[in-house]
Amino acid sequence: MADHHGKSNGRGSNGRNGRSRYAHIIGWGMALPSRVMTNDEIAQMVDTSDAWIRERTGIRERRIAGAKDSTATLALRAAKCALEVANVSPADLNLIIVATATPEYLFPATACLVQDWLGAENAGAFDLSAGCTGFVYALSLAAQTIISGAADTVLVIGSETLSRIVDWQDRGTCILFGDGAGAVVLRASNMPGGVLTTLLRSDGSGGELLALPGGGSRYPPSPTTVLNGMHKIHMNGREVFRFATRVMAQATRSVVEDAGLTLEDIALVIPHQANIRIIEAAARSLGMPMEKMYVNIERYGNTSSASIPIALCEAIESGRIKADDYIVLVAFGAGLTWGAATIKWVPTPPPASPLEQRAHAVRYWWAALRSAWRRFWRRLESRLKGPATASEK
Ligand code: UT7
Repeated sequence: MADHHGKSNGRGSNGRNGRSRYAHIIGWGMALPSRVMTNDEIAQMVDTSDAWIRERTGIRERRIAGAKDSTATLALRAAKCALEVANVSPADLNLIIVATATPEYLFPATACLVQDWLGAENAGAFDLSAGCTGFVYALSLAAQTIISGAADTVLVIGSETLSRIVDWQDRGTCILFGDGAGAVVLRASNMPGGVLTTLLRSDGSGGELLALPGGGSRYPPSPTTVLNGMHKIHMNGREVFRFATRVMAQATRSVVEDAGLTLEDIALVIPHQANIRIIEAAARSLGMPMEKMYVNIERYGNTSSASIPIALCEAIESGRIKADDYIVLVAFGAGLTWGAATIKWVPTPPPASPLEQRAHAVRYWWAALRSAWRRFWRRLESRLKGPATASEK
């Protein structure tokens, strides 16, 4: 099929005719904690069973962050892999976006920690909160920034440590979630392809269906919020399920149509991995065989904004995505939010050679040294100069 780049439709798509800049994914990486938690282990904590969980969700096991893992450390590991594959130096990054529902802190942004650790001295950095749709939102934003000419190289990460906010006594939620991170590097090119169209949607009226109510400005942390479990995930599973089965197929159709394609042109759909029954319902509604839906939920559960980049990474590395394939990413999540993207996969540059990999390692070491020096200097400066004067303020 000839190249299609979608039309600007005034409905939130980024499709353009006659573009001169395209945003291509040139690097990808993932990071998973080594600790595997099986359904049987969960059945020792709450009244459930391996059979129920497999039948109702498709999940067999998930990964759980260890004491030294956090959203930022997983994000960093995935980012380093993606930069390695792209053979891009952190200094070339113009922007870092971390999509997450479990940021390291309320602030500073997890993306700023990653920026510092990578030594990405020329990059802006911020976190993006759109629940499990976060990665698709971030990808869309990154692609728009590149296409507009405001950036050439952008790192997009989805990273989560959901095990830290799961109520391990609530069988309706604790069976679902897992930890992990995935990342991609996007780069400007004049070669047609890459992120062709995106769709971002929201419906805040459904916000309470999937929420973590405590710890924000509405309910600041207090003994009462802790006692009432307000720092844990609260979810109306049935309602989220119903919403998800409605929007997954709609969003997929919409981005495919905006790209001037048909569903037959799509080689692979990478859906958010929340429940195998939601993915099956979307496939049925689209009239697509399950072989065209990438599924890895059995091994990782729902890793929220990390689920799509992890699945994308696996799909590429297992040869499920080939040059010139059209693929769709589609997600839904807290907000409520949902979104999708159509991508034309193009051949990517060869990954870093062993020598280049060593050069990257030296750069990370240098970044750590520079970060430590800056912290030290800031402290020394404040000691020597005392409090900031009126003119400095
Ligand atoms: O990224 C977005 C995040 N969220 C989601 O995608 C969640 C979407 N929703 C779901 O995946 C499903 O709604 C769940 C997996 C959460 C629940 O499955 P369900 O088929 O919708 O179950 P249900 O809530 O309708 O409950 C059916 C029964 C209930 O028992 P009764 O009232 O019929 O006696 C539940 O109490 O299953 C019971 N149940 C369980 N039983 C054993 C609920 N959770 C469990 C469990 N083990 N873990």
